[in-house]
Amino acid sequence: MLVLGLETSCDETGVALYDSERGLLADALFSQIDLHRVYGGVVPELASRDHVKRMLPLIREVLEQAGRAPADIEAIAYTAGPGLVGALLVGASCAQALAFAWNIPAIGVHHMEGHLLAPMLEEQPPQFPFVALLVSGGHTQLVRVDGIGRYELLGESLDDAAGEAFDKTAKLIGLNYPGGPEIARLAEQGTPGRFVFPRPMTDRPGLAFSFSGLKTFALNTWQQCRDAGDDGEQTRCDLSLAFQQAVVETLTIKCKRALKQTGLKRLVIAGGVSANKALRASLEQMLAGIKGQVFYARPKFCTDNGAMIAYAGCQRLLAGQRQDLAISVQARWPMEQLPAI
Ligand SMILES: Nc1ncnc2c1ncn2[C@@H]1O[C@H](COP(=O)(O)OP(=O)(O)OP(=O)(O)O)[C@@H](O)[C@H]1O
Ligand SMILES: [Mg+2]
Repeated sequence: MLVLGLETSCDETGVALYDSERGLLADALFSQIDLHRVYGGVVPELASRDHVKRMLPLIREVLEQAGRAPADIEAIAYTAGPGLVGALLVGASCAQALAFAWNIPAIGVHHMEGHLLAPMLEEQPPQFPFVALLVSGGHTQLVRVDGIGRYELLGESLDDAAGEAFDKTAKLIGLNYPGGPEIARLAEQGTPGRFVFPRPMTDRPGLAFSFSGLKTFALNTWQQCRDAGDDGEQTRCDLSLAFQQAVVETLTIKCKRALKQTGLKRLVIAGGVSANKALRASLEQMLAGIKGQVFYARPKFCTDNGAMIAYAGCQRLLAGQRQDLAISVQARWPMEQLPAI
């Protein structure tokens, strides 16, 4: 089955063609980062308008890349939530209009299920069951995954998501949006041990996270440095390293706990923060220690993309799931509400 995938939940227009027999045929992305950078974060109305502009040219681009015609497409998968409603509506209405015109089925995909399944696009995909750490701009969740749509939430952030903490901390020390890659870049030049951030909620049992305190800790530390006239590039690097180490160690401790609690030895990491090299290295070391294995997607499929939506939608369509022509999206949508396949 040849599936066209459309992703428009936030600030990236992602389009891909996935074939159930041959795998991923083509993918294309337009990132709105430059559009939102001047505002220091995503402006929802600008995001929606830009998705409208990018969608059809990107669809033409993937068809050309794959050497396929519109008539070859057998179904369309689009992100139906969670995300920004205006942005989601662009993908949903485009998908439903094309599906109607081409007389093929369309299916709404859960954005986080897309992230969760992105490592399935790699050469060595994980086998079920596994524990998934979803770490993105809007989510930090540990999930037990027994199959597609068989999700048990083990723990999540009580406040900021890990990616959000990266973005906010970056902003307050004067780095560009999005902050994750910027902090990771500066951390490489950081002096180990100059600053030590707390590891939130690791001193008590459980799998919940809290990252908003790290941002406050960064703010206070940065202000002290500024007051002392020590707010140059090296201090930014040192702060970036200390912050990143705190997030990475906290996530590693909780992942280890989740694996112990479930008795599983396979860990999947997904979402934008799973592109972080220090996080990957730390989790790989932890998993090697318990003779387990960690799985993740190539960096471009960690952040938002159309390939993960095409893949997730394809699995549900192959299982016979279909949807009517209603254009409906959900800003909030717990993943445990999804039907199993
Ligand atoms: N190398 C990296 N290190 C740390 N964080 C990163 C890195 N690359 C990207 N990020 C972070 O990942 C986030 C973006 O990821 P993603 O696109 O998956 O999130 P989102 O789509 O905005 O949120 P959600 O998927 O929860 O709706 C941003 O917060 C960004 O700073
Ligand atoms: Mg995302």
